[in-house]
Amino acid sequence: MIYSEKARNYATSLPSMHRAVTAYMFHFVLNPDFLPQKLNDNILPFSAFLRDGFGRRHNYLRISLTEKCNLRCQYCMPEEGVKLTPRNQLLSTSEVLTLARLFVQEGVDKIRLTGGEPLIRADVLDIIAELKKLQGLKTLAVTTNGINLSRLLPKLKGAGLDLINISLDSLVPAKFEFIVRRKGFHKVMEGIDKAAELGYNPVKINCVVMRGLNEDELLDFVALTETKPLEVRFIEYMPFDGNKWNFKKMVSYQEMLDRIRQRWPDLERLQAGPADTAKIFKVPGFTGQLGFITSMSDNFCSSCNRLRITADGNLKVCLFGNSEVSLRDALRSGAPDEELLQIIGAAVGRKKKQHAGMFSISQMKNRPMILIGGYAQPSGPDARTALSPRTPGTLVFSTKPMSPKPNSVRMFHNHNSSQINRESRSNQTRSSSDTQLSHVDSQGRATMVDIGGKPPTCRTATACATVILGSTAFRLLRDIQLAKGDALTVAQLAGIMASKQTSSLIPLCHPLPLDHASIAFQLDSQQSAVIITATCRTTGRTGVEMEALTAASVAALTVYDMCKAVSHDIIITDVKLLSKTGGKKDFNRHPSLEN
Ligand code: GTP
Ligand code: 5AD
Ligand code: SF4
Repeated sequence: MIYSEKARNYATSLPSMHRAVTAYMFHFVLNPDFLPQKLNDNILPFSAFLRDGFGRRHNYLRISLTEKCNLRCQYCMPEEGVKLTPRNQLLSTSEVLTLARLFVQEGVDKIRLTGGEPLIRADVLDIIAELKKLQGLKTLAVTTNGINLSRLLPKLKGAGLDLINISLDSLVPAKFEFIVRRKGFHKVMEGIDKAAELGYNPVKINCVVMRGLNEDELLDFVALTETKPLEVRFIEYMPFDGNKWNFKKMVSYQEMLDRIRQRWPDLERLQAGPADTAKIFKVPGFTGQLGFITSMSDNFCSSCNRLRITADGNLKVCLFGNSEVSLRDALRSGAPDEELLQIIGAAVGRKKKQHAGMFSISQMKNRPMILIGGYAQPSGPDARTALSPRTPGTLVFSTKPMSPKPNSVRMFHNHNSSQINRESRSNQTRSSSDTQLSHVDSQGRATMVDIGGKPPTCRTATACATVILGSTAFRLLRDIQLAKGDALTVAQLAGIMASKQTSSLIPLCHPLPLDHASIAFQLDSQQSAVIITATCRTTGRTGVEMEALTAASVAALTVYDMCKAVSHDIIITDVKLLSKTGGKKDFNRHPSLEN
């Protein structure tokens, strides 16, 4: 990294073209992290200021035009709203254009305008028209919530807008309104139709998929692509400050794909561009296509070409990094282009190889999406106050309305220096959380604990489970009169087989050679229940509690399966570890813990 800095310092003292080539060569020769395969891309040398230590060229700039929005999407911002930056601290139109010009001069060829909701900025048409004049800019795009689109689109197109992405998370009007906490479903649909009518193809639709909320609409969204020139993109729900992200609410790419494939088994994968964030598919014969943005389950950091400028003028090199540097302050202090480039180059040079794992991200400090350049949130004179609660009795879906979390609103703009770096804060957060989690590595990714150094010992664990059957099923099971046969013998075999499969069922479990596994049953006629006890033993470096718990659980499920033709009112309960011995610490469930 020191070498990259030297290259940049040297390069700024040279005339422009010369400068880029020389800095590029320095970077290549001296930076040990540089990835030489980028040289094969057959493109002219790219500005050293926009290239990071991993050889990534940043030719795509996202500029947030405003922090305000006319919607209040749940996944984008906290219910109580965000603290808006005072107007005089936001980038003015001429500052936006000056920065854009500088980035385009250095090699950015695609700019996407985001927000908040970019289309509520009064001078958005002028900005588009001015940006369009920049020599070297090939693509000008907007991501919008679509509310004002049908009215504005003809003018936007006239001003030179090339691409349009529109957010839409539900096709059910009432659910749409629940998710975005505002009305407007029909306006968005009109905007989508208008975009198709004006020849945008594909019109990209962004759908953030959340469990219990809109996951049931996947097939309906895909069906939209049958006749319309859309690319519906299903986005894995991402954690940002204040959006109450939770692993269970995220529906993964694989799960979405499996569901869609059940309906359309011949779904075809299409080739995506090298820096595309979406994996693209098509149902044969359909006009449009679908995509998945898999930031959480399969990041695309290695081909990242994006930089972003927030509405208050901070350069953010990674969506999930909280390191930011103020270009606004540098501009306002009269910094010449060369100095701005130094600041940009240093920030880009520090860009990390990839973002942390989703659990670390969810604990890290970052801006809420609304303040990064995602979209959605408060407009109006005083959006700083808490947002109004949802109208009582309007609509309740299976997800509970989210309650506000104290202190989740934070300001990012009250700094004086021209550069700020919040990485130390993020590192603190990460290291403290990581030390508590032995199955998480320094990047926050799941990891299997290395047990190679431990001495092998004889380890035993016993677990139990209870299946409450109801009187009829209990009697038939006890008397071996169930239509499916002898439930307990089948359950015993199932439990033993399951114990041997534990490491392939539970992701971070080590495979173990089992010396012994046994399943015993006790019939409790008072409760009409079967009590299952599973014991597993190994000679090894790690214990068998997961094996015993798996055995008991699967035996219980098998009893259920054998009896379900008689009754569905069967309860599996009290799955628990009873004892474990032979490891670092023995455990024996105290009789007082038995319930
Ligand atoms: P195109 O690729 O130009 O169509 O646009 P886009 O997908 O980059 O832009 P859009 O504003 O439509 O963003 C859609 C989604 O892409 C966002 O919700 C994010 O999930 C994801 N995304 C956008 N930028 C980034 C980024 O820098 N990093 C990551 N990990 N995801 C991003
Ligand atoms: N997770 C995933 N996508 C998000 N967006 C906003 N917040 C989130 C989130 N928490 C998406 C919106 C918008 C795009 C710019 O970002 O759908 O279309
Ligand atoms: Fe790029 Fe960072 Fe997003 Fe990864 S997380 S794709 S590096 S902006």
